[in-house]
Amino acid sequence: MTLIDGKKISTQLFSEIHQEVENLNTGGNLQPGLAVVIIGDDPASRIYVNSKVKRANELGIHSFKYELPKTASQDEVLKLIQELNVRADVNGILVQSPPPPGIDEQLINQTINPIKDVDCFNPYNVGKMAIGDETGFLPCTPAGIIVLLKRYSISTEGKHAVILGRSNIVGKPMALLLSSKRVNSTVTICHSRTTNLRKILLDADIIVAAIGKPNFVTADMVKNDVIIIDVGINRIPDPDAKKGYKLVGDVDFAGVSPKASFITPVPGGVGPMTIAMLMYNAVKGCCIQNNVKLPKSLI
Ligand code: GUN
Repeated sequence: MTLIDGKKISTQLFSEIHQEVENLNTGGNLQPGLAVVIIGDDPASRIYVNSKVKRANELGIHSFKYELPKTASQDEVLKLIQELNVRADVNGILVQSPPPPGIDEQLINQTINPIKDVDCFNPYNVGKMAIGDETGFLPCTPAGIIVLLKRYSISTEGKHAVILGRSNIVGKPMALLLSSKRVNSTVTICHSRTTNLRKILLDADIIVAAIGKPNFVTADMVKNDVIIIDVGINRIPDPDAKKGYKLVGDVDFAGVSPKASFITPVPGGVGPMTIAMLMYNAVKGCCIQNNVKLPKSLI
């Protein structure tokens, strides 16, 4: 069993991206700028947003953080996005998902200028990804997973990849990337209404679990030498932990890892890759908007 070390690979990417930022700076006097918007006070979202801002600053990417109260109106949110859409110093715009009730996430995504849509949530960029047009952005978590497979030289061609979950952030775009001509897997998407889930999982060469159910995938559901990509980040009570909880994935790591050929841990697997791909997209946005040669594709 080989542990897929997302922390290590993301550290490599951060150093490559830092170099790209320096080149933009010395070569074109450019500094990529990333606007991060959070609406409301969800504690987990706050932690994610703060780590994105911190990482951007470490890489020399100018970050602009906007914290709107959970009482913010739809119009206030859209007005902020429209301002950011036209600012020359902002190359990427991210609105942390999910927004509080009463705010229409689809409307937010449609309002973000597609050339600044670093999450790839705007339907224009989702469409580009679907048709294999690589001039748009790729969604951070699914693209980060492809980078992990690639950097571990894991062959995906003709493999049966089973995705658990059909979210717009992970499941659906993951299916598009895994079935793309760069990756060439055969894809099955499973969800809460899937019947015979165990049978489908037992046929999987690669499992991408993104359903938000702690320890859902157990050893009896996977075949020998399966490749496990665990996107779940679930908090479960743990009286021994300092914070009173611990993080576990959607896969029962202790039970499944002895059967797996490769497996991502939680934390330290997929999570750090999401942030790395976001930083890459911010740099790509800066290049697109300033007509500079794009950084090399990571997937
Ligand atoms: N919520 C969970 N993952 C993400 C992400 O990648 N981007 C944004 N904006 N919100 C998220």
